[in-house]
Formats: sequence, structure tokens, C-alpha cells
Amino acid sequence: MSRRYHVTTFGCQMNKADSERMAGILDGMGYTFVEEPNEADLILYNTCTIRENAEHKVYSYLGKQAKRKQQNPNLTLVVAGCMAQQEGEQLLRRVPELDLVMGPQYANQLDSLLEQVFQGNQVVATEPVHILEDITKPRRDSTVTAWVNVIYGCNERCTYCVVPGVRGTEQSRTPEAIVAEMTALGQQGFKEVTLLGQNIDAYGRDLPGSTSDGRHLHTFTDLLHQVHDIEGIDRIRFATSHPRYFTERLIKTCAELPKVCEHFHIPFQSGDNELLKAMSRGYTHEKYRRIIETIRGYMPDASISADAIVGFPGETEEQFENTMILVQDIGFDMLNTAAYSPRPGTPAALWDNQLSEEVKADRLQRLNHLVAQQAEARSQRYAGRLEEVLVEAQNAKDPTQVMGRTRGNRLTFFTGNIDELLGQTVTVRISQVRPFSLSGEIVVPVLV
Ligand code: SAH
Ligand code: SF4
Ligand code: F3S
Repeated sequence: MSRRYHVTTFGCQMNKADSERMAGILDGMGYTFVEEPNEADLILYNTCTIRENAEHKVYSYLGKQAKRKQQNPNLTLVVAGCMAQQEGEQLLRRVPELDLVMGPQYANQLDSLLEQVFQGNQVVATEPVHILEDITKPRRDSTVTAWVNVIYGCNERCTYCVVPGVRGTEQSRTPEAIVAEMTALGQQGFKEVTLLGQNIDAYGRDLPGSTSDGRHLHTFTDLLHQVHDIEGIDRIRFATSHPRYFTERLIKTCAELPKVCEHFHIPFQSGDNELLKAMSRGYTHEKYRRIIETIRGYMPDASISADAIVGFPGETEEQFENTMILVQDIGFDMLNTAAYSPRPGTPAALWDNQLSEEVKADRLQRLNHLVAQQAEARSQRYAGRLEEVLVEAQNAKDPTQVMGRTRGNRLTFFTGNIDELLGQTVTVRISQVRPFSLSGEIVVPVLV
């Protein structure tokens, strides 16, 4: 019987995309996937270290598998991703049963690292490397929507954040590689692509060449033009955008290119200029507001989502209120909120003006309450409307229903047969709205 593997993924879309590529490599090595970790001969945890609590779960899972390995020495244990990069050798000291600890830059090299393991080595791969162009076929979760990496790493230095340390400096893939991957996806029947990068609008700065007016030759705006006409791909999304690089030229292009969906994920982190400065974000709340106004000028119905942090070191009640005011003024469709978590190796973790857990929890709760209210209000605009929905899956809770998303990224449920509708773009009349999802009925096209 062939060896079986299990992958559990923590963290962001970047990690999910890496997991799909690593699973593809394991498939290529002749392994088969199992849902249940306790039936696997190889377990891979693809980890996250963005906040402290992201790590606790991994250690608890690892503890259980380490015990299993004491009974079954043939079990292979792999820790990949950002926590692997951050902790490196330390992970081996805490869990000596581990076979392989590998940073995110090594995702495409899983096969050669495993070969070293099977030769009897315990392997740690965390040295910064040039990320190899992906030659494997990812094992994608969906047959309709796919992620495509366009830029790895981050060159910012936000004072709270581990990502530059664990994901390394920016490495843009070439436009040719991205076009080739998307062309193949279109041929395989995929309908939607989400382009991925930590700061996707910084794409191309590290690629050679510039225009006569001093612009980089390959900007994200240019890339959107280059990938737009790929056959079979009907929808293009992208995440995450950094306010520092979000230009009007990009906004205009999104408005002009019909396949680019009107949804923008642009984290602001704080609504207070002093805090934004302490965070080293490189913009003011006024600049952020102008970006959103410009988006809405070109695309009045655009969905806007973001990330925000409360309880950053030194945040006063008044500064927190400025975040609340920004959220109130913008009206987000969705907001990922988090209490500040001090991270090893980041400047802000060493400052002596840390806030108490109580203050952070209280502010988080107040912000979340406002976010839920706003999302509900934003959802109201869909009531009674006809929306274009790309069907992605059956509704896990009700098999008589299917689910998909509007162009603005709202989850939408309606009655239908998944075998007929999977991958179809249909028109849905929205009859029920909830803060983060919608329900409706399919509008059957009248044939004349
Ligand atoms: N590159 C993106 C964000 C990537 S990290 C950007 O700059 O917008 C995802 C989110 O995690 C961040 O937007 C931030 O809100 C949150 N985050 C990062 N470090 C954090 C920390 N130390 N404590 C709490 N939240 C954090
Ligand atoms: Fe982290 Fe800032 Fe880079 Fe985003 S831009 S990944 S928050 S350092
Ligand atoms: Fe976590 Fe790494 Fe993503 S730290 S949020 S998995 S980039």
C-alpha cells in the first residue's frame, strides 16, 4: 500500500497556497492524501506565527504526533511555514521527534528535503534562498477557484510584524511564469484566480527594467493587463494591498478591466496618525481615506475589507477612538481585527509601553461590535438585487443548496444541484441578507 500523508494548514492564504503546492509534491512522490492525521505515515503542519496564539495549537498537535512516533518510528513529522522559520532549531529541541523543519521559502523543495530525511538525517531548512519557480502541479482544494502567487516576501518593516523576518525579501515571479500558470488553469477549467502577495501592489519592484519616465517596467497594474485576457478565466481577484503602493492608475485599471472583481482588501491597521507612524506604516489616515474615495469614485459599489490592530503599544483611548471613527466613516464590508501580540524579533515587542490584556480585549470587543453592525448595514444594499454568482461548492450544511460568491466577495447560498451548477456563473435574486452572507434564488434565463 502506498504511503499516506496528511497536511494541516494554519495562517493566511499564502500558507494555504504553499500547502497546495507541497501536497502536489507529495502526490508526485506517490503518496496518497488522508483526511485523518492518525492514519497518516507522513504529517505536515504548515504553520503561522503572526500572533502568539497561532503557535499554541501547533505545539499541542505536535505533542500528540510525537507520542505516536514513539510507537511508530516510521512516521515522518514535518513542520513547515512561518513558525518553522521563526523557531528553527528550537523546534527540534522542544520536539526532538521532528524529521524536518522547513521555512516557507522551501515549499517547492519538499521532495529533495524529504530525500535527505529518508537517508536518515534530521533536516532544518531555514537559510534564505531564491524561491524556485514552481514546476509541480499543486493539489488544489477547488476545481473552480485557484490561487496564484505573484510576489513572495515583504520589504516593509512594520514594527509589530514577523512576516519580513520569516518570509524574507520580496521576490516577484516573472510575468511569463504567472501567465503560463494561469493559461494552464484556464485550460483545466478553473474560472477564478486570486493573485497572491503580502503587498501585491509592490509587485515588480525587484524585476529588472524601467520605463523612460522612471517607472518600474513591471508593475502590478501592468500584470493585470497581461493576465486579463487569458481564456477560460472569468474572474480575477487579488490580495493583500498595501496603502503605500495603491495608485490611482491601479484603481482605474481595476475599473476598466471587466474580469477584475470590485473587491479590495487594503489593511489600514490604525486610524491614528501617530500610531501609524509608530507602526512604520508609511501613510496617514487621510491618505487611506483618499484611496477608498478614489475607489468609490470609479466603482461606487466596490466592497472594501481590511485588517486592523487594537492595543498597539502606547495606544491611548483617544487613539483607539480614531480607529473607531475611521471604521465608522468608511463602512467596511469585512474587517479582520486582532489584539496586538508582541512577537519575538520585532521592535515593538521591546517597548515598555505595552497595554494590559484587559484593555486590548475590551477594545477588540468594541471594535468587533461596530464591524458586525457595519457589515450588516453594508449587506442591506444587496437586498432584492440581481447578483452574478460563480458557483464553487455544495452548501456543507444543506446539500439541496449550492454556494458561491458575488463579485464583491459576499458568500451566497441558493437552492440548486451542484452537479449541474459547479463552475457556472449564474444570476441570483437576493432575498435574504446577513452580515457576512446572502441567500437568494437562481434566475432562470428565458430562452427566446
Ligand atoms: N502585508 C499585509 C498584512 C499581512 S499580516 C499588510 O501589511 O497589510 C496579516 C495581518 O496580521 C496584518 O494586517 C495585521 O493586522 C495582523 N498582524 C500582524 N502582526 C500582528 C501582531 N504582532 N499582533 C496582532 N496582529 C498582527
Ligand atoms: Fe507585515 Fe507590514 Fe509586511 Fe504587512 S507590510 S507583512 S504588516 S511587515
Ligand atoms: Fe501567518 Fe506566515 Fe501568513 S506568519 S499570516 S502564515 S505569512
